[in-house]
Amino acid sequence: MKLSQKFFAVESSKHLIKKFDCGKTDMNQFLSRFAVKHAKLGLSRTMVLTVDDETNNKDHVAAYYTIAASNVIRNAIPTNQSLPHYPIPVALLARLAVDVDFQGKNLGEKTLVYALRHVVRLCDRGLPAYGLVLDVLDDGALGFYQKFNFLHAFSDNPMRLFVPMDVLRQL
Ligand SMILES: CC(C)(COP(=O)(O)OP(=O)(O)OC[C@H]1O[C@@H](n2cnc3c(N)ncnc32)[C@H](O)[C@@H]1OP(=O)(O)O)[C@@H](O)C(=O)NCCC(=O)NCCS
Repeated sequence: MKLSQKFFAVESSKHLIKKFDCGKTDMNQFLSRFAVKHAKLGLSRTMVLTVDDETNNKDHVAAYYTIAASNVIRNAIPTNQSLPHYPIPVALLARLAVDVDFQGKNLGEKTLVYALRHVVRLCDRGLPAYGLVLDVLDDGALGFYQKFNFLHAFSDNPMRLFVPMDVLRQL
């Protein structure tokens, strides 16, 4: 079993999406039931890190992330910059999960970094986003995200984190 060197757009014909188990039902179900469908609808994009399985013609998924476009009201954004009154465009890190067999091996961190770089690339290609927002699933996930000191909580919601694009570019 060998981990792929990069993430691929999820495809049900290539990836064993029903076998992924990160320990959180909702996150497993999103990958198995909605990730491909939502990508086709243009709602979000899910990328998977695969594990080559020579006994199967599909690859296992070791980790995945999902990004989407979103917007937030300016008052809640933790920033010192002056922003317009209309909703501010941001990238959303909608999902991030690592299969239980691969947790505790720095794949969560690798997946986060890969997702953040993906968002910077999209921004550089012309999709405007002032920063990136992510909603923390629970206290366990908060412990993970607190390791990354560039993520700051929204003033009205400690479980919603933000990083400005100019900070992302420097990572
Ligand atoms: C949260 C999750 C992504 C972490 O993935 P992981 O591969 O186990 O994490 P890593 O091995 O990359 O850990 C990176 C660092 O975070 C720390 N960490 C990981 N999970 C943590 C937790 N629950 N609480 C505190 N710290 C945690 C690790 O100790 C490590 O720190 P170190 O570099 O100082 O040793 C994974 O447990 C998971 O998929 N959980 C279920 C889904 C979920 O909650 N996703 C988040 C959605 S918002």
